[in-house]
Amino acid sequence: MSVSRLPAVVLLSILVQLVLANACSPADRSALLSFKAALTEPYLGIFSSWSGDNCCNQWYGISCDPTTNRVTDISLRGESEDPIFEKAGRSGYMTGTISKSICSLDQLTTLVIADWKAISGDIPACITSLPKLRILDLIGNKLSGEIPADIGNLNRLRVLNLADNAISGSIPGSIVNLASLMHLDLSNNQLCGELPEDIGNLKMMSRALLSKNQLTGSIPCSVANIYRLADLDLSMNRISGSIPAQLGSMPVLSTLYLDSNQITGEIPAGILSNTGINIVNLSHNGLSGYLPDVFHSKTYFAAIDLSYNNLRGSIPKSLSKAMYVGHLDLSHNHLCGVIPNGIPFDHLDASSFADNDCRI
Ligand SMILES: *[C@@H]1O[C@H](CO)[C@@H](O)[C@H](O)[C@H]1NC(C)=O
Repeated sequence: MSVSRLPAVVLLSILVQLVLANACSPADRSALLSFKAALTEPYLGIFSSWSGDNCCNQWYGISCDPTTNRVTDISLRGESEDPIFEKAGRSGYMTGTISKSICSLDQLTTLVIADWKAISGDIPACITSLPKLRILDLIGNKLSGEIPADIGNLNRLRVLNLADNAISGSIPGSIVNLASLMHLDLSNNQLCGELPEDIGNLKMMSRALLSKNQLTGSIPCSVANIYRLADLDLSMNRISGSIPAQLGSMPVLSTLYLDSNQITGEIPAGILSNTGINIVNLSHNGLSGYLPDVFHSKTYFAAIDLSYNNLRGSIPKSLSKAMYVGHLDLSHNHLCGVIPNGIPFDHLDASSFADNDCRI
């Protein structure tokens, strides 16, 4: 090779490297194109940017790792601030299914396909083999079928949000292996069966939202071991048994929704005396016994709803010591007595105590 030609060769190789460095992997690109082919988005044209060789360059909702140029994020939200929605004057709508082809995107950390209203079919079971997945958010579609049995393989998963779909079957036992899971939302589906007994293994979990399903069985005591749990919502299911007393001593629990179930037994005192808990809804259950007389000067509730149960006896005297109770509903029980006096109760009206046929 002559000396004079060397710089040209060097230049060419730098150019080739630059071009390659900016191009997405052809395998990732073809997986994305198969994913796109299984969906129809008629109103916004979000997929019109998915053309050309470089899927890392301005494909709507796609992000790549800047060093490897592998696809790391698919983030498609049907309800967002993005100007594309404002311009169209509507929120997102898509039909079709989630193609298995996404399972070959093995560097994927974020998969958000949220609020498109009409994407149907199953969650591809092969997503449980995406080793780096941290966020799986498929809220607000029409997905059916079951949660993949091997979901517990996703050991980096932090967010699992499948709410507002039509997912059936039971919660896979493997879910308790999701050691990094912080946010679980399976609300408003058709899940049945019991909560896994060892759900307390999910030590990182701070929100567990499972309302509006057909879950049965009782609340596992192990829930109380999830010491980061701040929000627990099991409302509108068919949960029975009693409330584990340990829930009353959870360190950061702040909202507890167990309303509209078939829960029986007494209300554990800790639920009403724990100063961290500030919304409790236990209404529409079969709770019985007396209301614990455990309120105190630090009692601060945005809402306590114990309506539609079988509680009896007198309204606790200590309730009048409460610092603040924003909304109190004790109606439709067998409680005796009157609305307590004092500033925390001045804003409550008689309906809070309506329909109580006193039983001592
Ligand atoms: C408590 O739950 C019931 C039934 O699910 C609901 O009607 C009521 O509005 C809830 N109360 C509060 C304070 O949110």
